[in-house]
Amino acid sequence: MNPPLLFTSLRTRSLELRNRIVVSPMCEYSSHDGFANDWHLVHLGSRAVGGAGLVLTEACAVTAEGRISPDDLGIWKDDHVAMLARITAFVRSQGAAAGIQLAHAGRKAGTAAPFKGGKPLPAAEAWQIVAPSPLAFAPGYAQPHEVSKSEIAAIIGDFAAAAARALTAGFQVIELHAAHGYLIHQFLSPLSNQRSDAYGGSFDNRCRLACEVVEAVRGVWPAELPLWVRISATDWVEGGWDVADSVALARRLRPLGVDLMDCSSGGNVAHAQIPVGPGYQTVFAEQIKRETGMATGAVGVITSPEQAEHILVTGQADAIILARQMLREPYWPLRAAHELGHPIAWPEQYARAAWVGRESPRR
Ligand SMILES: Cc1cc2nc3c(=O)[nH]c(=O)nc-3n(C[C@H](O)[C@H](O)[C@H](O)COP(=O)(O)O)c2cc1C
Repeated sequence: MNPPLLFTSLRTRSLELRNRIVVSPMCEYSSHDGFANDWHLVHLGSRAVGGAGLVLTEACAVTAEGRISPDDLGIWKDDHVAMLARITAFVRSQGAAAGIQLAHAGRKAGTAAPFKGGKPLPAAEAWQIVAPSPLAFAPGYAQPHEVSKSEIAAIIGDFAAAAARALTAGFQVIELHAAHGYLIHQFLSPLSNQRSDAYGGSFDNRCRLACEVVEAVRGVWPAELPLWVRISATDWVEGGWDVADSVALARRLRPLGVDLMDCSSGGNVAHAQIPVGPGYQTVFAEQIKRETGMATGAVGVITSPEQAEHILVTGQADAIILARQMLREPYWPLRAAHELGHPIAWPEQYARAAWVGRESPRR
């Protein structure tokens, strides 16, 4: 019997993922001065032990100013590399690939971690935030400084420098965060980008930063390693970025060296009405894959092995990207394999706990 598609390997450039289960980036807000620590080692390491094919870090800031909160993970200085290298070594030793999400929060930077209130920081703790246009994200948020062309060039350089450090740290996949209303998405969407220079106005101009970041990262990231991009396929707002724009963006990014579009949505405007429900974003992965031929990742309220397998069997996406279910259940892949009738090897230390026959925690 053929294995379930979820447990077939996924080749992305020279990298062969052992299965199609990806741990979605999830901010832990547990860093000091951007440094990874034991929390990140255990958090990411457990998910590698749990059988995922690829473990992506949370949004990792390419500059200190690009942090969502003071507690974000970062990779803006060489000193950050050593602990990240320890984490990638462990993740890889467990048979998973190690990936990093590179991010700049733009006008959504400078807030408290969600479990510290999540609000914009008080003036004494805040820093100058930047954006394509001087438009605050929402009432109560600081008005961002409109970045100049030279500041844009510096940010592009920051992404490239971060990518070079990621390579030194042993990461095998870079995912650029161009979703959820962070800086690159702010440039893409006409709702947040009202510039009249080469980085605003027309569709091509709004895509320019995304394209230039991809080119700069590709300039330092080896050709044999994959580069993924997470987008918000739609702003869910009339007149905003939409899925047709996402298809057009994918067509531009592919020849620049992007291998997979991770299809999320929303986050750029606070008042968007989002119909959240099981698999609610999978339709975007399906459309982008169908219309561009690019590999896509489906994310968003995917929780059961059957649902994940269905997405793959029906050709809607190439990778299944799980966030909250992997927090609930770090060993979800081991259970999924069992329930799909294709048990996979457990870490030998845990082999005596492997489910046999019809036994599983749900039964
Ligand atoms: C605790 C937490 C932190 C998150 N942090 C990030 C992040 O750093 N980068 C990102 O692109 N998405 C982030 N997300 C969004 C998830 O990656 C994912 O897209 C979203 O939760 C939907 O998937 P799910 O239904 O499987 O949770 C976060 C989600 C959660 C729950």
